[in-house]
Amino acid sequence: MSENNFYITTPIYYVNDVPHIGHAYTTIAADVLKRWHRSGGEDSYFLTGTDEHGQKIQTAAEKRGITPIELCDEVVQNFKKLWDVLNIDNDDFIRTTQPRHEKVVQEVFRRLKASGDIYKGEYEGWYCVPCETYVPEAQMGEGQTCPDCGRALTKMTEETYFFRLSKYTEPLLKYYEEHPDAIMPKNRYNEVVSFIKSGLRDQSISRTTLKWGIPLPGDEAHVIYVWFDALINYLSALDFPEENGKWRKYWPVVHHLVGKDIIRFHCVIWPAMLMALGITPPVRVFAHGWWTVEGDKMSKSKGNVVDPFEMVDRYGRDPFRYFLLREVPFGHDGDFSEFAMVRRINSDLVNDLGNLLSRSLQMIDKYRGGDLPMTYTAADIDNEIKECAENTFKEMDALVGRFAFDEALKTLWTFIGRANKYIDETEPWKLGREGDKDRLDAVLRVLWESLRLSAVLVAPFMPETACGVWQQLGLDGSPLDLGRANWQWGKADKQIKVNRVGILFPRIDIEKWKAQKNARDEEKRLKSDPKANYKYEEAKPQIEYDDFAKLDLRVAMIEKVESVPKADRLYKLALDLGSEKRTIVSSIKEFYKPEELQGRKIIVLCNLKPAKFRGVESNGMLLAASSPDKSKETITLLTVIDDTIPTGSQIN
Ligand code: MSP
Repeated sequence: MSENNFYITTPIYYVNDVPHIGHAYTTIAADVLKRWHRSGGEDSYFLTGTDEHGQKIQTAAEKRGITPIELCDEVVQNFKKLWDVLNIDNDDFIRTTQPRHEKVVQEVFRRLKASGDIYKGEYEGWYCVPCETYVPEAQMGEGQTCPDCGRALTKMTEETYFFRLSKYTEPLLKYYEEHPDAIMPKNRYNEVVSFIKSGLRDQSISRTTLKWGIPLPGDEAHVIYVWFDALINYLSALDFPEENGKWRKYWPVVHHLVGKDIIRFHCVIWPAMLMALGITPPVRVFAHGWWTVEGDKMSKSKGNVVDPFEMVDRYGRDPFRYFLLREVPFGHDGDFSEFAMVRRINSDLVNDLGNLLSRSLQMIDKYRGGDLPMTYTAADIDNEIKECAENTFKEMDALVGRFAFDEALKTLWTFIGRANKYIDETEPWKLGREGDKDRLDAVLRVLWESLRLSAVLVAPFMPETACGVWQQLGLDGSPLDLGRANWQWGKADKQIKVNRVGILFPRIDIEKWKAQKNARDEEKRLKSDPKANYKYEEAKPQIEYDDFAKLDLRVAMIEKVESVPKADRLYKLALDLGSEKRTIVSSIKEFYKPEELQGRKIIVLCNLKPAKFRGVESNGMLLAASSPDKSKETITLLTVIDDTIPTGSQIN
């Protein structure tokens, strides 16, 4: 282990779900940390992957009539594709179904069994037979029912292997006392410590009721419980326990990023497992908060799950990465709203960073033909900007070091704002007019340096954007290659020509955006609730049978269909009523073509007083149903299904 190594992980994601912003969030944060530490000269290693065993996968595969591994192979591609789309630079991708992982899980089991940390016992719990799963008491529905299917649970006892977690109560408390930064933020640390203090119970770590899992060595009736299996990925990916495996280098400088819901697994069970193996627990587990969506809990049933693919498609990968980390302090819950993202794009990216770049390069082009001034004499204000840059560099380092991404970006944007203000203060256009070459050189150079620093600092968050800025500044390669450690104000060894290409981020027209968003929301609303626009007419007062009997309703056949001149909506229909022929006028033209009507048997109210429409007399009225869907007018003709019914038949 060396101070210069940095190992960062995300939880391994279940493959029974499509990737959503929750998954994207942790992975982007991990990516930023990996890139940040690497650009700071550290040897950083980034692991993500998928958690593929368990009942849910087995059931989902059965439902689709495929094998569990076929399902995993398919879904894992969605995650890999998303990491590609989000520009995630992971060094490894582990799948718990890979032999390299399974063999390590079995080895860990063997070792802990041999040391007496695992023993065989009996597990008693509430079991849902249809779902084939145990339901923890805290999650049971009313009257011992399954929270998923609502059916009654059965108390079951089964043979299982236990991990002696209770033995690690004191060692864990001691570890956390000595390492107050091992769990962040502080409220999570306190939560975990008080949970441990309340006493730990041994954990069941095998199942006989489940097939889709890693077979337990020496007792094939059991498979290893998913969490015991999953946590080990962090070691198996580093070739534990091989003597020369990567774990030797990166353990325990591991930083686990997790959601707040899975902190106990990572801060209680996992470090106890490691202690049992004789390995130091992780340096840090950081628990981030959860995203709600426009004020609501994100859920499939609500139809409000934010699709990261769609967001990237609509707003771009870098703005999406930036927004997630800038908007909410890492560790707090946050609310995702597209409008908030649009506002940030327009203010932070278009107005602040985008403008600083285009204004500065335009002036270097205009006043120096694109050549960067190589030397300059600094005035006080130039020195102030330089100092501000150096402080920003240091502050951001400290802030990212404690996972405060939002504050880190805020700090950088304060600097970008300062640089924009510097343009207004120094008024380079005046210097140009007055021919003050020396001052102008200094101002242009200070702006260029400010942008160079911004590119270096923003690179881990928005790698593509940073490269774009870098190239427009006339620099080779990428700011990530340069490495933060090599950044220094005022460094340019050879003559540089800037390379203005165009705007960095297009401005989003808010009015147009709102209209499109409303249309999208409406479409989504209708999809999730097809009756959203239904409006049922109020019931009419009751009538006597005699009232109904006054209606003379008969089956008629449409013989001929003609348009009524100068009337968009009217057809003139020639009807055969068996005992007589008739003409009626009906406003159904926009709903039916003549050929759809010709020869159809319909129902007609025959004793309606005649009326004239556009000069054509109508003798009766056909019956049609109008839909309660008020978003679009639709009329459906009442037709006769059984074509053998003679025309003229009476309806009563
Ligand atoms: N497979 C386990 C982890 C095993 S790690 C050894 C698992 N997988 S998961 O796919 O269900 O969840 C992965 C992560 O997504 C968790 O950290 C969880 O907190 C996070 N999120 C799920 N919904 C989320 C939000 N709405 N917002 C933010 N993160 C969310 O748990």
